[in-house]
Amino acid sequence: MKDLRPDRITIRRPDDWHLHLRDGAMLRAVAPESARHFGRAIIMPNLVPPVVTAAQAEAYRERIRAALPEGSGFTPLMTLYLTEDTDPEDVRAAHRAGIATAVKLYPAGATTNSASGVRDFDKVRPVLEAMADIGMPLCVHGEVTDSAIDIFDREAVFIDKVLKPIRRKTPELRVVMEHVTTADAVDYVRDSPRNLAATITTHHLIINRNHILAGGIKPHYYCLPVAKRERHRVALVQAAVSGDPRFFLGTDSAPHSDPAKLQPCGCAGIFTAPNTMSCLAEVFEAAGRLNHLEAFASLNGPRFYRLPVNEDTITLVRGEPVTYPARIETGDGPVTVFDPGFALHWRVED
Ligand code: DOR
Ligand code: ZN
Repeated sequence: MKDLRPDRITIRRPDDWHLHLRDGAMLRAVAPESARHFGRAIIMPNLVPPVVTAAQAEAYRERIRAALPEGSGFTPLMTLYLTEDTDPEDVRAAHRAGIATAVKLYPAGATTNSASGVRDFDKVRPVLEAMADIGMPLCVHGEVTDSAIDIFDREAVFIDKVLKPIRRKTPELRVVMEHVTTADAVDYVRDSPRNLAATITTHHLIINRNHILAGGIKPHYYCLPVAKRERHRVALVQAAVSGDPRFFLGTDSAPHSDPAKLQPCGCAGIFTAPNTMSCLAEVFEAAGRLNHLEAFASLNGPRFYRLPVNEDTITLVRGEPVTYPARIETGDGPVTVFDPGFALHWRVED
C-alpha cells in the first residue's frame, strides 16, 4: 500500500517565543544554533546580573547581534527582568523605543538566576498597569516558590494564588504563561477568552517525569518547571497540535555546561535549540497534525505579539533518521543537546 504521509512540508519560518542565549562564550556558541532555523526569539533576561533596564537590554541586544553568523537575519526580541524596583516609565520608554518587546516576571527564587525577582506582587502593580495601558505582554514563570508546596504542584497553585488575582486586578494586561507543564494550565488558558496565551517547550511535549527519574536519574532531562506525569504531557500535546492560536512554541532552550548539570546540585535547563524543529515535526506527525505545525511554530506567536509573520519559509524533509551532535563545545565547556529518546526523521532543508 502506498504510504500517504507527506515527506516534505514548507512552513513560514518559525520563531522561538522563549529562549535563553546567556552571555560571553556561551552566547557565541549557542546563538548560531537558534539563528539557523528561527527568525526571531524572545530573549530571557536572567543573566547575572539580570537585564533590568532599557539600557541593559539594548547593550545585551548588541552583544547578541555580534554573536550571530555573518548575514544572519535572526532578530532578538528583548525582555526586561521585572523587579520590585522596576520603574514603569523606563518600561514604557523601552517599549516605545522598540528596545523591549515584553517584561519577564520571575517569582523570587523560582529558578535559575531569579533571586532578584518579585516577592510581593502588589509592589509591581504600577508596572503592570503601565504595561496593560500600552499593550505590552508580560511573560510569566508560573510557579510558586513556597517550600511547603510540592514541586509538582507549584504551577497549578501559582495559577490560583498569583495569576488569577493579578489578572482580576489588571484584566487588560496581556499575559503569556511561559513553558506550561500541566493540564491545569492548558485548561486555564483555554477557558480565558482574551489577553492570555501560553508557550509550550519542545521537551515538555516529549518527556514526562518518568524520563527524569525512572531507571536512574537523568540530569539532562531536569528543567523548571519540572516535567509532570504522562497525562499532563498528553494535555500539552493536544493543546500544541490543536491549532488553537493561544498556544505557541517557546523552546526554553536553556544551555548549561555539562559540569554545571552533572553535580550533586545540578542546574535546571534543557538545550533544545539544535534539534527542536526535527523533534516538533516528529511529535506533530505522530499526532496526525503536521498540518498544524506551522500554526504552533510560526503563526500563533506573532499573532499574540502583534507582529507580522516571517516572510520567508523553511522546508522540512522526511527521510532516513537524522542525527545531531550529542553535545556542542563552548568556551564554557560542553553542552549536551536534548535527546528525545526516539529517532528523528525530519530535517530542515538547507
Ligand atoms: O529549566 C530552566 N532553565 N527553567 C528556567 O526557568 C530557567 C532556565 C535557565 O535559565 O537555565
Ligand atoms: Zn526559561
